Amino acid sequence: IKTIGVLTSGGDAPGMNAAIRAVVRQAISKGKKVKGIKRGYAGLLDEEIVDLEAKHVSDIIQRGGTMLLTARCPEFKEPEVQQQAAEICRKHGIDGMVIIGGDGSFRGAQKLAAQGINTIGIPGTIDLDIACTDYTIGFDTAVNTAMQAIDKIRDTSTSHERCSIIEVMGRSAGYIALWCGLANGAERILLPEKYNYDEQKIVNSIIENRKRGKKHYIIINAEGIGHSTSLARRIEAATGMEARATILGHMQRGGSPTCKDRVYASTMGAYAVDILCEGKSKRIVSYRDGKFCDDDVDEALAMTKDISDYQYSIAKNLSI
Ligand code: F6P
Repeated sequence: IKTIGVLTSGGDAPGMNAAIRAVVRQAISKGKKVKGIKRGYAGLLDEEIVDLEAKHVSDIIQRGGTMLLTARCPEFKEPEVQQQAAEICRKHGIDGMVIIGGDGSFRGAQKLAAQGINTIGIPGTIDLDIACTDYTIGFDTAVNTAMQAIDKIRDTSTSHERCSIIEVMGRSAGYIALWCGLANGAERILLPEKYNYDEQKIVNSIIENRKRGKKHYIIINAEGIGHSTSLARRIEAATGMEARATILGHMQRGGSPTCKDRVYASTMGAYAVDILCEGKSKRIVSYRDGKFCDDDVDEALAMTKDISDYQYSIAKNLSI
């Protein structure tokens, strides 16, 4: 490997900059050249390629977002487009690529590898929905951001004796919702993975809680369930308790990364360069069972992971 390309793709996540910085500096320390590709796969096709030196990644470790910008690129599914992308890499002397993103980005890495470019994926998404890894870049910052926002909503919810339904991101996964539910001591957590709840039971529990003198009722609703505003309306009508819905939205994706996100993203960035230099390709860097490791992309994409039944069940007990 002589020249390593790096790109970020899909939704941005806090800590991506720390990973980019680590890729650039680990590669330089091993005598490699680095090229940054702007705007993900779309930018690769447009040849938005810049040389990256150590100084170009200074003062970014603490910043949210991605200095390389990001985009989604649906046309990358086409075989001719994948071939064209590999030719562009060769034209620019890029023989190894580090791709930071989610499942969709890894499918791109898989295709690029099939076209002869060595690729390594790094999991970057606030959703934590990548099966091969217990950690994804941005999740820790996102849950801390959401937790702080929910604490604030709780203050006003208590003062007004309201029910607050707070919708958090996560696409079709409920990890952010489960973590916030536990961290914020929510009365209810609605997860797409456990979508069997009975609305009448929620209504009964709100009425019961009010009788026992509880001043608020916090429901954390995952984006994968959605419809928070209509749920608030139905709850208010059925219980007589005022209800408000708040959709936290994209604020969960921004902000300065936490220490954990900076350290893990830095480690994964350097690790990706190390295994590229060892001659590995078509791998995803993972963190599993307390260790950094790497998996074949096909195998990683075929893996599944569950959300913790135990944590979901104790959340109910802890919020009585
Ligand atoms: O994957 C990250 C994520 O923030 C999801 O939680 C959410 O469903 C989606 O991206 C939102 O995408 P967009 O930024 O395109 O609205």
